[in-house]
Amino acid sequence: MSPQALVKLHAEREHQQFYKDIVSGLTRQQKRIPSKYLYDQRGSQLFDAICETPEYYVTRTELAIMQEYGPAMAARIGNRSMLIEYGSGSSLKTRMLLDHLQMPAAYVPVDISGDHLLETAGRLQDAYPEIEILPVSADFTKPFEIPVSNIEVEKRVVYFPGSTLGNFQPEEAVALLSNVRQMIDRRGGLLIGIDLQKDSLVLHDAYNDAEGVTRDFTLNLLLRMQRELGARLDYDGFEHHAVYNQRLGRIEIAIESLVEQEIAIGNHVFSLEAGELIRTEYSYKYTIGGFREMAREAGLLLRRYWTDDREYFAVLYLTP
Ligand code: TRP
Repeated sequence: MSPQALVKLHAEREHQQFYKDIVSGLTRQQKRIPSKYLYDQRGSQLFDAICETPEYYVTRTELAIMQEYGPAMAARIGNRSMLIEYGSGSSLKTRMLLDHLQMPAAYVPVDISGDHLLETAGRLQDAYPEIEILPVSADFTKPFEIPVSNIEVEKRVVYFPGSTLGNFQPEEAVALLSNVRQMIDRRGGLLIGIDLQKDSLVLHDAYNDAEGVTRDFTLNLLLRMQRELGARLDYDGFEHHAVYNQRLGRIEIAIESLVEQEIAIGNHVFSLEAGELIRTEYSYKYTIGGFREMAREAGLLLRRYWTDDREYFAVLYLTP
């Protein structure tokens, strides 16, 4: 098959999966849409714009921690290490580690989106010619094969920034941490960024910016459904919904139906009540102690952590 035909086939499969996931998600008692569909091209641009809003402290706080303590983290990682990053490795945060890694070293970015991955891996290879860069296109929530490196690797260290772990339910998070534990072996480590519990208003505002970028980001899902699935729905009848559930320590994000209405897709008709929510994402916020317990369940011990002055965010180093 020609490369063009393969690309087309891939797009066709993704389209079918999107359709299936939307229909099954809207059929459920508690309606939901998997959060991965937030990130099409426009969604990714909007997420970048969220990171620039004054309210969304997450990205800039983590970046500041990496900037200040990158050298100390790299020292922990040591030399002859293979750094395995979960998620795309294009960001400034990654560079703050790579800048200080002791040679020889290998860097393995793992991302589900193959195109994006190869592009950023190429760019990093140009910037860091002395580091062996081995991109892996895989879903890190499932077991995947680690590439063989030319250097003799003494340990594997997983880097998992962005508090992405917080987008998993606690049981899923423990399972994911257990997978990491298996993969890094006895000598390895985990360097992970987590968002911390803090003043409810600060958290609320981070997911409800005044300019409405986060609103556009959430509601972009409806536009995708219209455009890609021919969904019939009233865009103005919906609103972005994000509240902090203090008891469970999580932001709960959803699309809210403002009125009683229907969404029609093909032959399917979904009824919504006024005030009904279509869940899109949770974002768990941790305490250092709470996270330490969760990691312990997965067989990982907290060795040290770095945080900012306000203790909004933390980067932790754990070992088996
Ligand atoms: N992983 C990000 C987080 O939980 C994603 C995110 C930020 C997000 N703002 C959002 C997801 C708004 C949905 C809606 O912080």
